[in-house]
Amino acid sequence: MAGVQKARAVIDRDFVISRIDSRIYGGFIEHMGRCVYGGIYQPQHSESDEAGFRRDVAGMVSELDVSVIRYPGGNFVSGFRWEDSVGPQVNRPTRMDLAWKSLETNEVGLDEFAKWASQVGSQVMMAVNLGTRGVEEAAHLLEYCNMAGESSFSKLRNAHGREQPYSFKLWCLGNEMDGPWQICNTSAAEYGLLAREAGKVMKRLDPTIELVACGSSSLNLPTYPDWDATVMEYCYDIADYLSVHMYLDNKEDDLEAYLAKSLIMDEYIDSIVAACDFVKAKKRSSKRMYLSFDEWNVVPSTWKGNDAESWTVGPALCEGSHTTADMIVFGSMLISLLKHSDRIRIACIAQLVNVFGVIMTDSDGRVWKQSIYYPFLHASRFGRGLALPVQMQAPSYVTNEKREAPLIEAVSVFDDDSGVLTVFAVNRSLSEELEMNLELRGFDALIGHESIVVQHENPSAYNKADAPDTIVPRNGFVPLVNDNRLSTRLLPLSWNVWRFKPAGGNRK
Ligand code: AHR
Repeated sequence: MAGVQKARAVIDRDFVISRIDSRIYGGFIEHMGRCVYGGIYQPQHSESDEAGFRRDVAGMVSELDVSVIRYPGGNFVSGFRWEDSVGPQVNRPTRMDLAWKSLETNEVGLDEFAKWASQVGSQVMMAVNLGTRGVEEAAHLLEYCNMAGESSFSKLRNAHGREQPYSFKLWCLGNEMDGPWQICNTSAAEYGLLAREAGKVMKRLDPTIELVACGSSSLNLPTYPDWDATVMEYCYDIADYLSVHMYLDNKEDDLEAYLAKSLIMDEYIDSIVAACDFVKAKKRSSKRMYLSFDEWNVVPSTWKGNDAESWTVGPALCEGSHTTADMIVFGSMLISLLKHSDRIRIACIAQLVNVFGVIMTDSDGRVWKQSIYYPFLHASRFGRGLALPVQMQAPSYVTNEKREAPLIEAVSVFDDDSGVLTVFAVNRSLSEELEMNLELRGFDALIGHESIVVQHENPSAYNKADAPDTIVPRNGFVPLVNDNRLSTRLLPLSWNVWRFKPAGGNRK
């Protein structure tokens, strides 16, 4: 019988990628499909609060400790009239949302969402419409949200019952303006100019805000990566971040290649960083551009396309169940984000509820957690501190796209307050259990503290309303640490978390 395949890994306390920005654990809620209507908001539901928001859904979002939530879109924002979404609900118009061919009642608007976000413990990352609208409306929206005093939009917010400005810190200058699907899709130069001017005015109004310019929304677009360099030419000085979006899927129906797709994400990030740094050099600038990975996820393997009726409220769009394999790809994307945390400051899972949702609800009023909920929960809970690379020598395979994929992807996070080291790793092998021998260099003596595994032998298994616990975390084997060396095992298709604490007890 062939022996277990082995990997060797080293983590060194002194080799730090970066201190992780907590906004890397962000989410996204769009007025799309059943994310808002039938997702976070469902006034007739028994779990709903007096404002119509579901407590059970909010509880699951809170548990994820989502630092920041991007809102209100997405493609939706490119046709959004923010004025429709404020003031007495009875006066709000129902609009035809041209992004998703849905009816938007504006029952949930800016003020309701801001209140909900604060209840679930998240900051709002607001997006302005640079599709059908422009500089003036962007400035008015910012004035409504962030200005105190006597100006008309500040007073309007006051009249709507909110005296204190929201002081939203993060603002997206439009959404995916490079995409032919986008309302008012445009060229990089036209967008760059508009974003620069909108950004200039916005920062004049509120110099404390940070701005995200639209980067390439897909590496399959012919404009990638020139788009990024051109937008940066215009916006390098005004923007603080360039956005990146990525949804990985198994449309080729090639499981091994799919499980390795986070390697494409690694390359994507490297090339966008290169485009930013190219412009930095051209401009002789000392400023470093950071990335806002403000849409990322895996497309559920069970999703077969949309067939919802157009021009309805909250049609089911982009709904599917995330399988074990999807969870592995999701976990490796999360690891990729942390490996690049020196350049990625913000990241938002798209989306939090129902639309490729981390959390799902159904028409019977049930709610459950998808498989991908758990890697995010663990990373958000234990992944705060310093990101440290895991130097890995692992067996690998070559995909049909000629990428060499190591069977293990890993990263670690050192909490320098408590002295606890957490290692996150996936085993992307469909069949092989792996042994990993790990050496921890430069740390005080550590001992095993906790081990968590999320795994299922069936790559196509998934959680559903009547079987919500098909894929759930369980306690794993806590490795014995001897002289800061240890050996541990990774089951096939598994997400793993190991935590090590100082032998003398936590520092804090
Ligand atoms: O998250 C769904 C959609 O995907 C967003 O609206 C858009 O920005 C992206 O194309």
